[in-house]
Amino acid sequence: MKNSYFDLIEQTYYFPQNGFDLRYNYLTFHGVSLKHLIDKYGTPFRFIYLPKIEDQIKKTKNLFNRIIKNNDYKGNYNFCYCTKCNHFYHVINEALKHNVNLETSSSFDIDLILSLFNNGKFEKTITIICNGYKTDDYIKKMIDLYEMGFHNCIVVLDSFNELNRLIKFKNKHKNKHKIKIGLRMAIDEEPQSSYYTSRFGIPGTKIVDFFNNKIRNNKNVEFKMLHFYIDSGIKDTLYYWREFKKALNIYTELKKESITLDSFNLGGGFPIQNHLGFEYDYEYMIREIITNIKQTCNFENIPEPDLYTEFGKYTVGEAGAIIFEVLEQKKQNDNELWYIINNSLMNTIPDAWSIQEKFILLPINKWGNEYRKVNIGGISCDHSDYYNSEDFNQDVLLPLYDENDKEPLYLGFFHTGAYQDSVSGYGGIKHCLIPSPKHVIVDRDDKGNIVDTVYREEQSFDEMFKILGYHGR
Ligand SMILES: Cc1ncc(COP(=O)(O)O)c(C=O)c1O
Repeated sequence: MKNSYFDLIEQTYYFPQNGFDLRYNYLTFHGVSLKHLIDKYGTPFRFIYLPKIEDQIKKTKNLFNRIIKNNDYKGNYNFCYCTKCNHFYHVINEALKHNVNLETSSSFDIDLILSLFNNGKFEKTITIICNGYKTDDYIKKMIDLYEMGFHNCIVVLDSFNELNRLIKFKNKHKNKHKIKIGLRMAIDEEPQSSYYTSRFGIPGTKIVDFFNNKIRNNKNVEFKMLHFYIDSGIKDTLYYWREFKKALNIYTELKKESITLDSFNLGGGFPIQNHLGFEYDYEYMIREIITNIKQTCNFENIPEPDLYTEFGKYTVGEAGAIIFEVLEQKKQNDNELWYIINNSLMNTIPDAWSIQEKFILLPINKWGNEYRKVNIGGISCDHSDYYNSEDFNQDVLLPLYDENDKEPLYLGFFHTGAYQDSVSGYGGIKHCLIPSPKHVIVDRDDKGNIVDTVYREEQSFDEMFKILGYHGR
């Protein structure tokens, strides 16, 4: 009996599924022939399938809007694209075609938004949620946005101190507008975390006092939004619902004090498919969230808030993939077979190496061959540059092949469209567009005196923007 890789997949999962299929024994992704791309471009290469971004945005908006309607929920739903998960021009441009709002996380993000605006990609009425640590530079750019007429820019305060700095800059620049603000609630982490309360946001126990003492009568700002974000994702777990209820209770307390508060921001965190057996009921989670908010608001006799999400990974993660070929197979002992691929996993999918993030791994060809468990190794000299079942709690089973085969074995890691480029520093971009710092060389001269010189200044946004495909700024 032949026990082929195809039999394994067919018997273990639903297949074909979610854009994965076989054509002439080669894997296709959303109908795209990967063999054709390999023949055309060689390996390795990354790619992004833009139509998937549209599907994800439409799916989320439809689900939220349908559940809002069916439950006679009074607030509106606002989809914000979280730029930090993929900043490329072609990606944000695609998201903007589907009428999204934007969420930013650092100063360069605002330059990026202005570049898109100058190219006519959206109107000044767009909602821009400004999250992240507010450096002086970032605050100044938010004030500039107000001056330019972006009056739906909401500055989500991450600490007490950010309010003072915002007002100081506003007054210094003689800005006359009331700045819309939100408050981010700091969440308590899951028990296995190495710390208890997140460094982001303001502790839940202090938010209402902060509002009463510093914001309620403050003529400079208008309080609009409560924000919370669970880093481990929106999951049907006791932990998620505990933090969600905490945020909802704080919202109701604040709403009783504030006339202007009308928005509840759930942050990001929708999961994506990271193995073929992945199951997640998006509709159920959205329904639970909306009905819980409605019940609580009705009970407390307060209006139902507008809802905001900032889905990053969910919007673009499933659109991306990276394709390698196996250069060599190495049998290092009786049990272990290594497939050495033609790049480095550390450099291309850093989340797999650093935080054991799983991605869908599938061969592109040789589905009719028998299979076995393998370790995948990169060609960097680093011992950690590998991917195997032990680390990922997920079998890495791949087709066997003969050294004399004419065609190499091609492998694809799929659903890698979020964060991998910026975290791996693709071409010089950086996570959250935080620039590379100034680089100083220190030496001793012939007399033994210390001499220092600047090798390179801090990275500018122009340098990053060229890599990301933005022009004209
Ligand atoms: C404030 C905030 N919103 C949204 C996101 C996006 O999360 P995800 O990509 O999991 O949807 C993040 C991610 O770090 C975040 O910090």
